[in-house]
Amino acid sequence: MNLVIINGSARKNGRTGIACRHIQKKYRVDLIDLSLLQLPIFNGEKEQIELAEYKWLEEKASKADGIILATPEYHNGMSGALKNALDFLGSQHFFQKPVALLAAAGGGKGGINALNNMRIVARGLYANVIPRQIIVDPDCFDYEKEELLPEADRLARLMMEELKLYVKLHSMMKEGK
Ligand SMILES: Cc1cc2nc3c(=O)[nH]c(=O)nc-3n(C[C@H](O)[C@H](O)[C@H](O)COP(=O)(O)O)c2cc1C
Repeated sequence: MNLVIINGSARKNGRTGIACRHIQKKYRVDLIDLSLLQLPIFNGEKEQIELAEYKWLEEKASKADGIILATPEYHNGMSGALKNALDFLGSQHFFQKPVALLAAAGGGKGGINALNNMRIVARGLYANVIPRQIIVDPDCFDYEKEELLPEADRLARLMMEELKLYVKLHSMMKEGK
């Protein structure tokens, strides 16, 4: 099973990145880190599909059996970096593919709007967004160890288990079982 997590934070030392690397290590998923991938602003011009950064992104997305979209909540929505990366992709990368959602929020009861925003956009990509989703606030982290604290880790585990279940069901469906 090939799972990919997309870190939608452009901050190299952001909390979304810590959550993504925690999930990457614990569940052996592949990481697309938008704080490292230098994608330009999508403009729909043909030249952009020749970019090495785009080819790398689209190959990873194509090969993924399931994708976790992770974003900081910015002004009640997903980050511009994540939306831009998704604009480079299309339904050919997401059609019926199980997708899980994670939002990093500021701790003032935020995060849900970014999750709902990603859910709407992922529907536009024809993804199959699973019911479980998580919000990580600043107090969900062990900053020295660069990992999630136990309660957030537990919720991440439940989400990952559900994602894997949906990936299995999707694979059975494709095989006609
Ligand atoms: C421009 C901007 C807008 C933000 N808007 C929200 C918001 O609407 N809701 C919220 O809960 N947090 C908001 N925050 C706080 C971030 O979501 C929070 O700090 C998060 O951890 C940032 O992720 P990062 O550390 O990966 O960059 C905002 C932060 C910035 C810089």
